[in-house]
Amino acid sequence: MRHLLSSADLEPDDVTAILDLAEEMADVQHRSIKKLPALRGRTVVNLFFEDSTRTRSSFEIAGKWLSADVINISAKGSSVSKGESLRDTVLTVAAMGVDALVIRHMTSGAPQQVTGWIDAHVVNAGDGTHEHPTQALLDAFTLRRHFGGDTGSFANRRIAIVGDITHSRVARSNVLLLKKLGALPVLVAPPTLMPSGVDSWDCEVSADLDAVLGGVDAVMMLRVQRERMSGGYFPTPREYTIGYGLTRDRLTALKPGTAICHPGPMNRGLEISADAADAANSLVLDQVTAGVAVRMSVLYQLLGGEDES
Ligand code: NCD
Repeated sequence: MRHLLSSADLEPDDVTAILDLAEEMADVQHRSIKKLPALRGRTVVNLFFEDSTRTRSSFEIAGKWLSADVINISAKGSSVSKGESLRDTVLTVAAMGVDALVIRHMTSGAPQQVTGWIDAHVVNAGDGTHEHPTQALLDAFTLRRHFGGDTGSFANRRIAIVGDITHSRVARSNVLLLKKLGALPVLVAPPTLMPSGVDSWDCEVSADLDAVLGGVDAVMMLRVQRERMSGGYFPTPREYTIGYGLTRDRLTALKPGTAICHPGPMNRGLEISADAADAANSLVLDQVTAGVAVRMSVLYQLLGGEDES
């Protein structure tokens, strides 16, 4: 694997290989000394132009546990805030001798563009409203464990992806990946938050959460991304919750064992209630834990096999 830019680039066998290696990496999390020598001497730069808690820190921990040198650069506090262009910033970082660049950017397609400017491996850590492939991989890792352990356990599983689909790179990456694994994603959103052209996503679409909830194996709630909204996508937060929130009442509609996921950060009380976020079947913190193992696996797949000379 040269870069990881999109779930669309991954074949089912690639996904299985990444998730299987992540299972091995996950063992490191339970050791008292969390260190493997695999990427000693490699340098990974996390270049983040948007805010992040989970993604940035888990890439950092993943690189460090594999013994890579990890440097974090965020737009705030770098020369980007003095007006430096993306290209100049990336060329500057690459000129120091970087092996992998993990990039989050508010423009869809930015990581793809970066691959044309530098030789380092590029990982898309979220680009605008386009894709977030490592989030989809860590969601698949978490659900694979929940469903029974192998990639085949996704066959015909119905997975509702609910909420602000229009602005969600997590939804896009998940639909692509879940379909490759044989699952059946069901997109649920108010018409104003369902992207135009959703027909080409080739999956079930609904505006009625209550009609969908009882028939799914997992429900993935999405954050309402108010920072990307310029107008009124719904009348009031309260009306959004009534129509599309995973409220306490809606929990009773789920089949026993239905997994509850959310990529975080959660707006508790808006798209997800505290009862749902903290329910016995909530996998929200398992997703965070999986993020480290999956990103270790991805970094190893990109950098691990390279000739040391
Ligand atoms: C997501 C993101 O940034 O795309 N969060 C994450 O990576 N855990 C989803 C979101 O911000 O709502």
